[in-house]
Amino acid sequence: MTFTTLITGASSGLGAEMARQFAALGHDLALTARRTDRLDALKAEIATAHPERRVETYALDVTDDDAVTRVFEQAKGDLGRLDRVIVNAGLGKGAPYGKGSHYANRETITTNVLGAAMQTEAAMAIFREQKAGHLVLISSVTALRGMPKSMTTYGATKAFLASLGEGIRSEMMGKPDLDIDVTVLYPGYIRTEMNEKVEQKTKFMVDTEVGVRSMVVAIEGRKAKALVPPKPWVAVGSAMKVLPLSVVRKLL
Ligand SMILES: NC(=O)c1ccc[n+]([C@@H]2O[C@H](COP(=O)([O-])OP(=O)(O)OC[C@H]3O[C@@H](n4cnc5c(N)ncnc54)[C@H](OP(=O)(O)O)[C@@H]3O)[C@@H](O)[C@H]2O)c1
Repeated sequence: MTFTTLITGASSGLGAEMARQFAALGHDLALTARRTDRLDALKAEIATAHPERRVETYALDVTDDDAVTRVFEQAKGDLGRLDRVIVNAGLGKGAPYGKGSHYANRETITTNVLGAAMQTEAAMAIFREQKAGHLVLISSVTALRGMPKSMTTYGATKAFLASLGEGIRSEMMGKPDLDIDVTVLYPGYIRTEMNEKVEQKTKFMVDTEVGVRSMVVAIEGRKAKALVPPKPWVAVGSAMKVLPLSVVRKLL
């Protein structure tokens, strides 16, 4: 049976490139996002490159709880089962606290925390029923320590995802009847629309295709957690955990 993967936030950046690379690996895909014109274009692109692949697209705002449940169930029905769900949709807006721009932080929390929690709820319900599945949560290296200024909320939302994934993995260790794996990815800086205007972060930035290749290797390996691309992020991540905050704040 063909392996089936649902990816949220597949209309651009990492989600769209994961769709391309997983299609090349032979997966059938369920792709979701709000910008369905982009999903349609991606579906057409994949159909040309891999005509044997099945790609279904769905309009989905991940902050709409009912829609998340409905779309995940619909995708499972359309593809027959969902072997993997990649909780990728995310927002990088943010502002320093106390400066009157809480709306930006709120929007990021709503998307990255509440949206991800609901996607996880819907995915886990399907996996429990199937007694199998692979949950992939896209966190960030910014989850490893507190981030300053406009990154504070974003990093905190990504720390939520990391903790969420580890918690579910811990539960699943005690359930031998359920073949459910959990992977938390901590991408470094990979060039996408999210960071195209963030000039100061270009020192470690890699192209989308290169960065996503590392993500796909870690996902296919069902790693519990992985900093991607491994170079330089495994070393930077280890350093981040032990260095004083005064140094960490200048690293990223
Ligand atoms: N690029 C990096 O360096 C990097 C590093 C670490 C982690 N990440 C994480 O990787 C994920 C993908 O980011 P990216 O870099 O690929 O950014 P991107 O190009 O801006 O893509 C973000 C995706 O999320 C979707 N999205 C945002 N809000 C949504 C909502 N309310 N409902 C449904 N979909 C929504 C967008 O689709 P629509 O707008 O069409 O809905 C888009 O497809 C994010 O979780 C991000 O935090 C990225």
